[in-house]
This record gives sequence, structure tokens and C-alpha cells, in this order.
Amino acid sequence: MSKHIVVFTGAGVSAESGLKTFRDSDGLWENYPIEEVATPEAWKRNPELVLEFYNLRRKQCMEAQPNEAHKLIAELEKYYKVTVITQNIDDLHERAGSSNVIHLHGEIMKVRSSVDENLIYPINKWNLELGEKCEKGSQLRPHIVWFGEPVPMMPVAIGITQTADIFIVVGSSLVVYPAASLLYYTKSGIPKYLIDPGEFSESVLREVIHIKKKATEGMRELFEILTKNVWV
Ligand code: APR
Repeated sequence: MSKHIVVFTGAGVSAESGLKTFRDSDGLWENYPIEEVATPEAWKRNPELVLEFYNLRRKQCMEAQPNEAHKLIAELEKYYKVTVITQNIDDLHERAGSSNVIHLHGEIMKVRSSVDENLIYPINKWNLELGEKCEKGSQLRPHIVWFGEPVPMMPVAIGITQTADIFIVVGSSLVVYPAASLLYYTKSGIPKYLIDPGEFSESVLREVIHIKKKATEGMRELFEILTKNVWV
């Protein structure tokens, strides 16, 4: 049995594919305040603006291509059992070939009913408009976990994280909870790596080996380490 690698990714892994992060300078939240586009209250108040924000995310996602970091993460499956837990709503991990991807914050290429969260549909065009309804007759909304909403995949993600033999974080500021808490659910003593060019708190740096580089360069380096001596 090969060892189990859990890769936990954030917006930084898709930055080199041309998708903006949220909290870097000129990040998404600087141009669109969270409370105006990413909360249930915003959806009630101004659904048009919310749809516009996510339509743009969907359009950019459809135009983007997976980068070398996504591809190397997928290639690790040749050597290890790999689960990707991503905070990203894009589908670049899947398109790079990763076969086990858990989306904690939803998926931009899906929409769902606004009265029944189990009615989820794929969308294969970039724009979702007011007036497009689910089979129960209610407005379709993006299949996204907004601020203030529960994170239904969190218990699954915790269970998987607890089985990791190696834990890798790529491109996340680790400030959004509960997602960021995964780092602390790992078994004690396992190797944990963080690939991210940003600055982190002492409490994070105590947990990880920090490869302070962009996702593609950092993944190239870590891929080399993990595949030179495959841990079985
Ligand atoms: N390679 C790797 N990391 C990068 C790169 C890059 N090329 N460019 C930027 N980063 C890093 C930044 O240093 C930062 O630590 O990516 C991180 C992006 O952080 P955030 O914008 O906070 O994104 P993320 O951690 O994914 O946010 C979590 O917040 O708003 C919510 O739902 C949204 O899922 C998102 C969650």
C-alpha cells in the first residue's frame, strides 16, 4: 500500500493560471466587498450583482488552463495515493488529471436550487441569469459556500486529513476557518509542507516546512523530494 498524500490547496495554486487570489493586493475581495457578493444576505439584497460576480469567475475559469503545479499534484498519483482538498471553486485540479478532489467551498461549474441544496446541476456556459430556475421553480444560484453558511464537506475533509501520511498546503493564506483548521487535524509527526510565497504566523510555521516559493516552482522542488525516495 502506498502512503497517502493529502494536498490542501487555496487560490495561490491557480494564480499562475491567471485566476486572482482573494487577499493578495489587487485580490478579488479588494474589488468586490465580501458582504456585497459572497453572503446569503447579499444574495437576498442584490442577486444580480452576486450572479455577475460569479459569472465572471466562471468565465475566467473556463478560459484558464491548469498550470504545472496542478499537473504535478495529479502526477503524484503515479507514486502515492493522493487526495486533493481544495478551497478553490475552479475545476483546474480535475482538468489536470487529479482523480480525488474535494471542494470545500463549492464549484463554479455547478449551480443549484435556492430552495433545495441537493438539487445541483452542471453548467456548461459562463453566465447564469435571473429567471433561470430549478425543477422546483426557484431561482438557480451558484453552487458556492458563502460566508455565514455551513461547510458540508468539512467532516469528510477532516476524516481524510486524519489518514494523511504526508500533508501539503499549496497557495493558501490559511486565514479562513474552518478550512484552515485542517492543518491541525493531521496525525502527529507526519511531514507537512507549505508551498506559498507569503508570510505566515509562528503557529503555522511551527507545523510546517515552508517552501517560500510560487506554486509551480515549489511543487517542482517538492515533487523531486517526494519521488526520489518514494515512501512506502
Ligand atoms: N503560488 C502559490 N501561492 C501564491 C501564489 C502563487 N503563484 N500567489 C499568491 N499566493 C498565495 C498568497 O501568498 C496567499 O497566501 O496564495 C494565498 C492566497 O490567499 P487567499 O487569497 O486568502 O486565498 P485562500 O487561502 O484560498 O482563501 C480561502 O477564502 O474568501 C475565501 O472562499 C474563499 O476559498 C477562499 C478562502
